[in-house]
Amino acid sequence: MSDDRQPESADAPVTPAHAGPDHEEPSAFKREVWGTRAGFILAAIGSAVGLGNMWRFPYRTAEGGGAAFVLLFILMMFLVGIPIMLAEFSIGRSTRLSPIGGLRKAGGKGWTPLGYLFVISGFLILAYYSVISGWATRYALSAILFGVPADPSAYFDGISTGMPAIGFHLLFMAIVIAIVMIGVEKGIERAALVMMPILFVLVIGLAIWAATLSGSGAGYSFYLSPSISDIFNLPTISAATGQAFFSLSLGMGAMLTFSSYLSRQESLPREATVIASSDFAVAFIAGLVVFPIIAALGLQAAVDESTAGTLFIVLPGAFEAMGGIGRVVASLFFLAIFVAALTSAISLLEVVTASVIDEWNVPRRVAAIGAGALIAIVGLWPATDLAALEAMDLVAAEVFLPVGALFMAILVGWRLKDPIGEVAKNVPERFHPWLTAWIWVLRVVVPIFLVVVLYYTIPNGWGAVRALF
Ligand code: PHE
Repeated sequence: MSDDRQPESADAPVTPAHAGPDHEEPSAFKREVWGTRAGFILAAIGSAVGLGNMWRFPYRTAEGGGAAFVLLFILMMFLVGIPIMLAEFSIGRSTRLSPIGGLRKAGGKGWTPLGYLFVISGFLILAYYSVISGWATRYALSAILFGVPADPSAYFDGISTGMPAIGFHLLFMAIVIAIVMIGVEKGIERAALVMMPILFVLVIGLAIWAATLSGSGAGYSFYLSPSISDIFNLPTISAATGQAFFSLSLGMGAMLTFSSYLSRQESLPREATVIASSDFAVAFIAGLVVFPIIAALGLQAAVDESTAGTLFIVLPGAFEAMGGIGRVVASLFFLAIFVAALTSAISLLEVVTASVIDEWNVPRRVAAIGAGALIAIVGLWPATDLAALEAMDLVAAEVFLPVGALFMAILVGWRLKDPIGEVAKNVPERFHPWLTAWIWVLRVVVPIFLVVVLYYTIPNGWGAVRALF
C-alpha cells in the first residue's frame, strides 16, 4: 500500500520543490518541502530542539545528580545518538517513505510492528508534551499581558494541573492540529527561523547574566564537576540515554521521515553531527542558565518540591530579579520556547498522521484531526496529574524510544542490503573507515548496550506506571 500510494489529496498546499521523476511522493511531512540543505537541517533541528532541551534536560540533570548525568548525556548523544540518527537517515533516504512504509520496504513485512511502535511513541509523547507546551504558552501570554509572576513557585502550582492546564493544553493541541492539517506553510518555518536564533541569543545572554550573580558557584559545581563513582551508575546511564534519544527526536521515526525528503546530495554523517551538536549546545547552555540561578536565588527548595517545574519556577525568579527589562526578556523567552515546542510537536503529530494516512488511506485532514483529538484526550490525564505526566515521560523516553532504537539498529545493522553505501554518499574517502566503525557500533555495541539499559528501565518504568493506580 505504501509503495504505490496515491499522491497527496488535492487540497495539499505544497509540493516538494525538489520532486524529481523518481521522487515517490511521500504522504508525510508537508513541512519538508525544501530541497535545500539548510531546509533539512533547520527542520531536523526544529524537531530536536524543544522542551527536551529547555525543560527536560535541566530537570533530568537535577534529578540525575548533576554533572555525572551531563557527562553521560554527551557521551550517549555521540556514541549512541548519532549512530541511531544515521540509521534512521539511511532508511528514510533510501526508501523515501514515511515510517511504516519505509520500515516495511527496508526490512519486509515483519518490521511493520516497529512502525506501529513509533506511532504509539509519538502519540504518548505528544499527549504530555502538549501539556508542558501549554504551560509555556501561558507563561508567554501572561508575561506579555501582565508581567512576571511575583511568586513563581505558587504560580506554577496554580497553573500546572487542573482546568488552567487543560485549557492551554487544548489550545496548544489545536494549534498543532491546525498546522499539520493544512500543511506547514511558510508561517511556522519563518517563525522558527526568527525565533530559534532569538532563543539562542537569549539563552546565551541569560547564561552570562547568571554568571554575574553572587552565590552562583554552587550551581556550577553541581552542574559541571562530576564525581567518578556516579558515572558508573546504571540508573544515571539509563536516564542519560533516554534524554539523548528524546532530545534528538530518535527512536520513533521522526528523523526517518525528515530524511525521506532529502536529496541524495547531502553527507548524512555531516548532517547528523551538525544536528546533534546544535541540540547539545542549546541544552548545555540552558543548564548554564538554570543551575547558577537556582544556587544564587536560593530556589533549591522550590525545585525539589517539583522537579518537573524547574524551568517554570527558576526562570521567572530570574526575570523578576532583573527589574523592568525582565518582563521583556520573559516575554521573548517563553515565546521562543513556545515556538521551539511547536516545531517539535508538529514533528510528533506528523509521524502519527503520516502513518495513519499510509495505513488506512484516509485524507490528511481526517488523519490529523482524528489523531490529534485522540492525543488531546489522552493528554487530559497528565494535565490533571503531575505524577502521570512524569510517569508517561519516563516510560516514553526510557522504554519506548530505546526499544525503537534497538530494533532500528538491528534492522539497519543486520538486515539492510547496503547501509554503508547509502550513508557513504558524498562522504570523502578518508572518512570511510568511520563508516565501517559505525556499522559495527550499530550491529554490536548499540544492541548490547540498549539491552542492558532496558533491563533496568523496563521494571523501573513499570513501577512508575503501577504507582499511579
Ligand atoms: N526532541 C524534542 C525535544 O527535545 C522532542 C521530540 C521527541 C520530538 C521525539 C520528536 C520526537 O523537545
